[in-house]
Amino acid sequence: MDVKDSVYFRVYTLFYSLQLTLQSFNSCLLLFFFLFTAQNCSYTLHSPIGTIESPGYPYGYPNYANCTWVIVAAEHNRIQLVFQGFALEEDFDILSVYDGPPSPGNLRTRLTGFQLPSPIVSTGSRLTLWLLSDYAVSGQGFKAVYEALPSYTCGNPGQLLNGHQQGSTFNIGDKIRYSCSPGYVLEGHTTLSCLATSAGTAAWDFPLPYCRADDGVVGLYGARAGLLHPQLPCRPGDTIALVFSDFQLEDDYDLLEVSGTEGSSQW
Ligand SMILES: *[C@@H]1O[C@H](CO)[C@@H](O)[C@H](O)[C@H]1NC(C)=O
Repeated sequence: MDVKDSVYFRVYTLFYSLQLTLQSFNSCLLLFFFLFTAQNCSYTLHSPIGTIESPGYPYGYPNYANCTWVIVAAEHNRIQLVFQGFALEEDFDILSVYDGPPSPGNLRTRLTGFQLPSPIVSTGSRLTLWLLSDYAVSGQGFKAVYEALPSYTCGNPGQLLNGHQQGSTFNIGDKIRYSCSPGYVLEGHTTLSCLATSAGTAAWDFPLPYCRADDGVVGLYGARAGLLHPQLPCRPGDTIALVFSDFQLEDDYDLLEVSGTEGSSQW
């Protein structure tokens, strides 16, 4: 990454120019400006393989974050993005992914919440990520690895939660088979085929299936929760928000107890 693009360089230069201009302008107004623009960040990535992390990952991204990452691969390449961690304040902090430059027509998906998203493969040689956070409550953020692939490959369609993937090549003509762990049934197509498209690229013929807990069996999915501010030490009087993104326990037999200062609760 270019030194000029680094957040530290930008913050430093901003601070330096701030010092110069402080002499002639209202200091409070400029300090306000400094505080609200220092969070902005944008990166252009040219290497064929790399890692993208939200600022501060995994200790939480700032409020008012406005970050873009433009991944530019060589011609006749496409970009595969695989998420390794994902926790954004649901519905308020959003990661938008654009299949190309960041124009509304290129919007591929808007990601938020606590579920690890499926891999994303661009159609062309450019993929843009745009993170926008609001004024309060952040999450751990996200981490993803990307890789430039030749345009004639489909890219990995993704793993299933509580399931298995058979097949490890993703070129035109390849097939991937999916099955679910005991206690789960597969919804969707068990086999995906990588087909050539009229645009000269490749695409899977069906979307990724998923594994649903089979109600006839005691399918214990468990609970998953994210602490919204893992980096902050708590002081007396602070409250802790525990947000469940998945919850499935056997009725009447299995329970989760959460205890705090106001007595414990059981589900
Ligand atoms: C995000 O940053 C871009 C470029 O710096 C700017 O044009 C845009 O208005 C910002 N958006 C928000 C919501 O702050």
